[in-house]
Amino acid sequence: MKVTIIGAGAVGASCAEYIAIKNFASEVVVLDIKEGYAEGKAMDLMQTASLNGFDTKITGSTSDYSKTANSDVCVITSGIPRKPGMTREELIGINAGIVKTVSSSLLEHSPNTIIIVVSNPMDTMTYLVHKTTGIAKNRIIGMGGALDSARFKYRLAEALEAPISDVDGMVIGGHSDKGMIPLTRMATRNSVPVTEFLSKERLEKVATDTKVGGATLTGLLGTSAWYAPGAAVSSMVRAIACDLKKMFPCSALLEGEYGLNDISIGVPVILGKNGIEKIVKIDLTDAEKSKMQESAAAVKKTNELLEL
Ligand code: LAC
Repeated sequence: MKVTIIGAGAVGASCAEYIAIKNFASEVVVLDIKEGYAEGKAMDLMQTASLNGFDTKITGSTSDYSKTANSDVCVITSGIPRKPGMTREELIGINAGIVKTVSSSLLEHSPNTIIIVVSNPMDTMTYLVHKTTGIAKNRIIGMGGALDSARFKYRLAEALEAPISDVDGMVIGGHSDKGMIPLTRMATRNSVPVTEFLSKERLEKVATDTKVGGATLTGLLGTSAWYAPGAAVSSMVRAIACDLKKMFPCSALLEGEYGLNDISIGVPVILGKNGIEKIVKIDLTDAEKSKMQESAAAVKKTNELLEL
């Protein structure tokens, strides 16, 4: 399994690190436009190999796409991150151009690759890759829900005063502060609905804290987060590499599922060796359905800003 990561910034480097530590890929190539930067990150990471016990070979390159040839999975993290007070949607102007160029360069050298989009506004960038590359929809996956669900579980565990491994939950909808839909109704602690333990008000706070999870970190760090985004990507890449058929909420192109069409947005999917192997349909309540419609309307509004 060869994985390419475009962007050696904090998110790209975290992706490379977690993929290496999980030790399932033979090769990770990191690319960046900043001279020597990806090479430096790759060398630093390789010098952790004997300490952290991995055999994955990590190499870096300054914009040489020939080094990415025949990648099985490519992860696009490049673009500008948000600064405190910015929404993900405000990044569209610069990031759309970058994601379009990067995805076409990747496909020239790896025509069969699966692409994972991380750059924001992520749902719109995922849709852009669909529109501009024309590759099969199972091979284009947006990373948002896996991260948002991890943040949801963190907030649930905090409210429950429980270890995170006791907790399960999922966030669907758009990867934006307003668009995320934490499915509190379905969240559980060791299969007991969390509604048994937490009041409606406390669960509402869990949902609110989850939705602004990225913004909270951007406020604290001065730029957007990287550990949890990197870990989320690495879990998705592992599910593909090891053909795990694992369920994650991901941004997937919908063709009628959830009553939506011509949009990429977060829904539960099965990830395996073919990328998105199935879109899982779950029964939503009327309130959840209307949140999904609202979330989709916001993503479509951002999509309209694309110059396709
Ligand atoms: C975040 C970015 C990756 O939510 O969208 O941290």
